[in-house]
Amino acid sequence: MLITVANNKGGQGKTLLATLLAQYLASNPENVKKVFCLDLDRTQQHFIDNMAKSGLSFVSGLDSAAKCPLCVVDTPPSLDDDVIRAVKMADVLVVPVVPCKHSAQNAANIAEIRERRDGLRVVLNQWDASLAQKQARSFLNDRGFRFYGIMPKYKRVAHNIDAGLDWRHDVFEEQTLEIIGILKGLLSGPA
Ligand SMILES: Nc1ncnc2c1ncn2[C@@H]1O[C@H](COP(=O)(O)OP(=O)(O)O)[C@@H](O)[C@H]1O
Ligand SMILES: [Mg+2]
Repeated sequence: MLITVANNKGGQGKTLLATLLAQYLASNPENVKKVFCLDLDRTQQHFIDNMAKSGLSFVSGLDSAAKCPLCVVDTPPSLDDDVIRAVKMADVLVVPVVPCKHSAQNAANIAEIRERRDGLRVVLNQWDASLAQKQARSFLNDRGFRFYGIMPKYKRVAHNIDAGLDWRHDVFEEQTLEIIGILKGLLSGPA
């Protein structure tokens, strides 16, 4: 199973969500599949650095990723051939969006590249319910997108991930459960 996290805009939460998903899957006793990771971002390999600290295994290319029982793929803020392939090949395509006019359009473009909506999981990230964010949400709503999670700012979790720690480190249980709920929603059957 290939889980790709993509949005060709930077700062949307791709690496954050890829890390959350991989760490969650690796620590979930219900998941019997070994978790592999692939970082297609060649300029800053934050994802692979995080995953190496978590002791997870990684692969070096999409062809190997496709053969893994379970692989989480983080992507750069660009649309090169590998990213387009990873978007098309994904069983689950997670698209984080910090809602604003342009990021909503970007998310719509990524979905179009896939040429199908099954497996598409749009997450509104760093949600603050401002007017601009609500307009971006309406833009996506009007185009038939549904949302698989609305994440506010999780300061501590983001700090943990940026510092290469387990995301749950010193995080209140209520927030941990909320995030696990979102991750489960992302991984649940096709919609
Ligand atoms: N929900 C969130 N709450 C707080 N900080 C966040 C959240 N999502 C992302 N960030 C922070 O925003 C920055 C960009 O996120 P990142 O996952 O690196 O984006 P991308 O990989 O799409 O470029 C990082 O410092 C990350 O920790
Ligand atoms: Mg990134």
